[in-house]
Amino acid sequence: MPLGRQQAWSLVRRTYRTASPGTRLHVLGRFLTCPYLRVLDYLPPQARVLDLGSGHGIFAHLALAAGAREVVALEPDTRKVFLNFPRPGMRVVNGYRDAVRGRFAAITLFDVLYRVPLAEWPDLFAQLRGSLSPGGLLLLKELDPRHRAKAAWNRTQERLADLARRMKSLPPRVLQNCIRLLTGILEPALILAMGALVLLIVLAILLPIIDMNQLVRL
Ligand SMILES: C[S@@+](CC[C@H](N)C(=O)[O-])C[C@H]1O[C@@H](n2cnc3c(N)ncnc32)[C@H](O)[C@@H]1O
Repeated sequence: MPLGRQQAWSLVRRTYRTASPGTRLHVLGRFLTCPYLRVLDYLPPQARVLDLGSGHGIFAHLALAAGAREVVALEPDTRKVFLNFPRPGMRVVNGYRDAVRGRFAAITLFDVLYRVPLAEWPDLFAQLRGSLSPGGLLLLKELDPRHRAKAAWNRTQERLADLARRMKSLPPRVLQNCIRLLTGILEPALILAMGALVLLIVLAILLPIIDMNQLVRL
């Protein structure tokens, strides 16, 4: 069953409506930047699907709405597991790949492989192959190393999210000092960046005028 962009977004919005603004923003970012809808087109009808490293479970929700029979959303990060808001047909499992049971018509991985050490890839792929039913599909979306800026931005996002999670567990006084230190660095850096931008704009306006003056003198 094809799922239009508008319909998909409305489903995602409804699913996460009670989540915190931070989570909703993250979900919106993922929805806009990850080709979930294009991958849906490859799912066999009535498929049993495994989404490995499912994060907040966005793809699991979309796959069920698009006609999957069952989706197992496997995610090692317990905090994300509690933000999955499961629907009928969705099984959220908190664990690593050793928790995978049974066979699937499709296995999906969205931006997960780069988090798995290279040395583990052969074992991982062998296991996933063994978990596919005959004719099953492995659908893999990974950061394209040729798009360096995008890949760097995605990694930065993940690191910032990890850092934010670790910071939450710090004692309040230490957290306050960290925030003070960060704003102490960021404020002057922003002022400098704004100054540089203004200088660039002024130069961009002035240089053609100076050039024209020289032409008139010639
Ligand atoms: C960039 S997030 C992508 C989440 C989700 N697939 C999505 O599209 O939003 C990467 C996810 O991989 C998970 N992950 C990290 N190491 C993993 C591993 N060894 N096995 C499975 N998932 C892993 C992380 O917890 C994280 O949720």
